[in-house]
Amino acid sequence: MRMSVFIAVSLDGMIARTNGDIDWLTATSHLIPGEDFGYGSFISTVDALLMGRRSFEKVLTFGEWPYGDLPVYVLSNTLTEIPNHLPEHVQRISGSMEQTIQTLKSSGYQHVYVDGGKTVQSALRAGAIDHMIITRIPILIGEGISLFGSLDSDIHLKHVKTVTFKNGLIQSLYDCNY
Ligand SMILES: NC(=O)c1ccc[n+]([C@@H]2O[C@H](COP(=O)([O-])OP(=O)(O)OC[C@H]3O[C@@H](n4cnc5c(N)ncnc54)[C@H](OP(=O)(O)O)[C@@H]3O)[C@@H](O)[C@H]2O)c1
Repeated sequence: MRMSVFIAVSLDGMIARTNGDIDWLTATSHLIPGEDFGYGSFISTVDALLMGRRSFEKVLTFGEWPYGDLPVYVLSNTLTEIPNHLPEHVQRISGSMEQTIQTLKSSGYQHVYVDGGKTVQSALRAGAIDHMIITRIPILIGEGISLFGSLDSDIHLKHVKTVTFKNGLIQSLYDCNY
């Protein structure tokens, strides 16, 4: 089973403002008509999504559930229930990251999308992330929720490629376990 990150960061490494706002990310100035920045082709390769509870709560504010039939596992030790209006394949998963990975492996998934800052950090510390696709938005937001955090030891990455979009977004693919 491979695990991948597909995420956008401010140039100063944030995935959201301190209060969780991503207004700076969804601003229309970052859009190019007809361009999805590789998201469609990425999501078509995954067969499950592991998402932190805080990211899940943000997605719920979008109104429409954006993940269709994709099995989604919401990592949480506090969430008591998944709202009824969501599809049955949206489930809560609890326990350590290591236990979570074992559960996903034993379910037979081949490629899991990992989303949410704390969740990505935890998966990185567990040595479970294989690929990271990181899109840098040309903005500094000063403070916020960082994509990366403390580590027990360095993680060496292999840069695979970088694509520059005409609106200044820079997307890099890194291999982690190579
Ligand atoms: N820029 C982007 O592309 C992008 C992408 C995704 C998300 N976001 C933003 O990022 C923010 C959320 O990120 P976040 O870092 O605050 O949180 P997160 O990773 O989405 O969620 C963290 C929560 O996951 C649960 N959890 C349970 N076990 C865990 C474990 N082993 N490791 C990590 N988490 C575990 C905990 O919830 P419990 O307390 O319930 O146990 C923890 O509080 C939101 O504002 C969202 O909009 C931005």
